[in-house]
Amino acid sequence: MTEIKQVAVLGAGVMGSGIAGICANAGCQVLLLDVEQSAAEAAKAKLTAGRSPLIQEPALLDNIRSGSFAADMQSIADCDWICEAVVEDLKIKRQLFTQVEAARANGSIITTNTSGIPLKDIYADMPPRLQQDIAVTHFFNPVQVMKLVELVGGEHTKAETLATLAEFLGARLGKGVVHAKDTVNFIGNRIGCLWMLAGLHLAEKAMREHGLTIESVDALTSAPLGLPPTGLYGLIDLVGLDVMFNVGKNLHANLPPADPGRAFTSFTEHVQRMHDRGQLGRKSGGGFYKLIRHHDGSKSMQVFDFGDDCWRAAQAVELPENERTLCGVFASDSGNGAFVRDLLTTTLCYAAALVPEISNDIVNIDRAMRWGFNWQHGPFEMIDQLGARTFMQSLNQTSAPLPNMLRVLQESGAQSFYRNDGREYLTLDGRWEKV
Ligand SMILES: NC(=O)c1ccc[n+]([C@@H]2O[C@H](COP(=O)([O-])OP(=O)(O)OC[C@H]3O[C@@H](n4cnc5c(N)ncnc54)[C@H](O)[C@@H]3O)[C@@H](O)[C@H]2O)c1
Repeated sequence: MTEIKQVAVLGAGVMGSGIAGICANAGCQVLLLDVEQSAAEAAKAKLTAGRSPLIQEPALLDNIRSGSFAADMQSIADCDWICEAVVEDLKIKRQLFTQVEAARANGSIITTNTSGIPLKDIYADMPPRLQQDIAVTHFFNPVQVMKLVELVGGEHTKAETLATLAEFLGARLGKGVVHAKDTVNFIGNRIGCLWMLAGLHLAEKAMREHGLTIESVDALTSAPLGLPPTGLYGLIDLVGLDVMFNVGKNLHANLPPADPGRAFTSFTEHVQRMHDRGQLGRKSGGGFYKLIRHHDGSKSMQVFDFGDDCWRAAQAVELPENERTLCGVFASDSGNGAFVRDLLTTTLCYAAALVPEISNDIVNIDRAMRWGFNWQHGPFEMIDQLGARTFMQSLNQTSAPLPNMLRVLQESGAQSFYRNDGREYLTLDGRWEKV
């Protein structure tokens, strides 16, 4: 197995600089290249700046050498792993990989950090040597914080290439590696983006039918469900409606024809209008929420009210005691309960239907959502918490066919997806295996 000591990172943007930083921290020699050397140099300087810099020990910055694609591509011949992190554009990535292939040494490994371009489109018609040495290493943002890296091989990628990467990412960089397939958006973003996009539709339905508000939706889609404190709208403000719009477009183009996620790839009318007038989220000074800084130095939060299409002061929400836990709110007969059941059944059934399309087992799916989206519990762990049989009974009322992994559970007679304190999981063929 190749030992990865020298790393080249191509692209010194948000992701490339983060990847270069964590490799330098791990003691690797890193070559960080961009279109202009000045961009790579500036990205390098930022790694030791700020209140909690990615590189805490300034001497480790010497592990990074900056350069440009035009002047320094030949130096990748010394690198064991070449990680591409340039803009999400198939043509640009392919052009860069053609240069990489001409310059790199035999036995080196190349990866792309694409979030949505199929790997097979990147390596199509490329030389066999490239096709056996290439993979996706999909890091999550911020790179130094998020544990997840999705590792995806192509049709011809050598098993040894994937094993070397898995070992390096896990043991040297301390990442949680999830093995994913070359399917649209891999695992984390396939389920996480469905959760967000479906959430936008189902939350507005709950606002119309049950009088929920942006604040109550966020109060529900956070601590009670074991999800991050931003809640649904807070998270989308962080990501930006421009990014979400492109995610929806990519899903629309690449999801399988009968995929249930297709129902949610477009925005609702309200959200589309916000997007079109540039009300994108934190990056544009306001999205669903807007932070107001007053002259006296105080701050207050405003929220964008769909009813009147205008800003108003955000209201604190105190949920009833019975709606502060996953099981409690799922069982509640209130409007809050109806919304949570709607969103959770949509999301959890989606995950259950995607085995084996995106992963052969439930463990990689649960890990992807915990490590990449900071969910306290993955989808199958949530179903276990609710009680798999109770969850299925709530579905039977809708008479839709059971999603694949739920069907496996039912036919195998199992009561849950995990047993033995989470040490064993239910496989696709209804057996129990060690996690
Ligand atoms: N930002 C995220 O949250 C995130 C998360 C996971 C994966 N990704 C993926 O990582 C990759 C990089 O994203 P990012 O957020 O770091 O982007 P970024 O915009 O911060 O950086 C992009 C880099 O590409 C370079 N670039 C621009 N035009 C180029 C060209 N014509 N040729 C070569 N290089 C060019 C830029 O100089 C810049 O260094 C993308 O594939 C993206 O989809 C991003």
